[in-house]
Amino acid sequence: KNRGIPLKANLSSCHPSYPSGDQIGSCCPTPAWSELEIIDFQFPDPSSPIRIRRAAHLVDEEYKAKYEKAVAIMKELPLDHPHNFWRQADLHCIYCTSAFDQVNSTAPFKTHHSWLFFPWHRALLYFHERILGKLIGDDNFALTFWSWDHPDGMHFPTMFTEGALNNTERDAIRLPTVVDFNYNEDRGLTDGELVLDNLALMYHHMVSGAKKAELFMGCKLRSGVDGDCDGGGTIEESPHNPVHGWVGDRNNPVKEDMGAFHSAGRDPVLYAHHSNIDRMWATWQKMRNNELEFDDDEWLNSEFTFFDENLQFVRIRVRDVLNMSKLRIDYQDIGLPWLDTRP
Ligand code: C2O
Repeated sequence: KNRGIPLKANLSSCHPSYPSGDQIGSCCPTPAWSELEIIDFQFPDPSSPIRIRRAAHLVDEEYKAKYEKAVAIMKELPLDHPHNFWRQADLHCIYCTSAFDQVNSTAPFKTHHSWLFFPWHRALLYFHERILGKLIGDDNFALTFWSWDHPDGMHFPTMFTEGALNNTERDAIRLPTVVDFNYNEDRGLTDGELVLDNLALMYHHMVSGAKKAELFMGCKLRSGVDGDCDGGGTIEESPHNPVHGWVGDRNNPVKEDMGAFHSAGRDPVLYAHHSNIDRMWATWQKMRNNELEFDDDEWLNSEFTFFDENLQFVRIRVRDVLNMSKLRIDYQDIGLPWLDTRP
């Protein structure tokens, strides 16, 4: 079915743009992406090993040391290197603050509050993970997920408080407590109350309130100024948004780093948070037998650009990221306790 043209960024339109109250700044790439040669994404070799992302509270010391080393190397790369940690952080800034317009339009190209949310962030993780692996010479390197949906993982993952994985711009008061999926301001609940509240929300946002693709994935953002939609799916609205605000430093103007689109990528925990967001998408896909989310060509052919681990500048489409096994990624099975917490 084709109802419109696929969403695509106009790569020569980069400008500072922070539509959700973020501070003005610029994360436009140099050299401009419009000057680079773009190649089409190729799937990894189907016989290559599957990278299994494991829960952050269950990984061993060896893994932590490996991840920390990879991020440390990333932070030491020349500042203008596309694999440099801060340039990787800019990817989130570029796409999530609408630094680009759409092609042939003045409408913003954005990857939040719509059906682009899960696919774009899955692609971000895919490339970031392969780059980290490349930097330490490990083709099996996999990210880790912050399993905030499981009672054992509802605290901030301590591995992200060490070495290169640490970040100073976090809320020191909240960090030792259980995360709050309804976080807006502190609610004065006990850890036990928060766990129950969170599990009930998970059930609602994964099952009872997510029966249709549009409810789970977000609204159908169409190309052009008339095509605007601004509504994230259940999981994007929560836990995704509150967890960002919960981690970010309350003393900063817009709860940087995690609390704002332009700065979230500066905190290494972004990738663990989003690995769990992505794991929820994979879980939801499995629960509906991998039925295609939307049979709309304009969604399936919407495209994003990223640097891959070989420094090639790659065009990847939504249709390329729908199948995890084609990307050679999977998640450790730690159970889904919220499935039994039907209210
Ligand atoms: Cu692009 Cu969690 O945000």
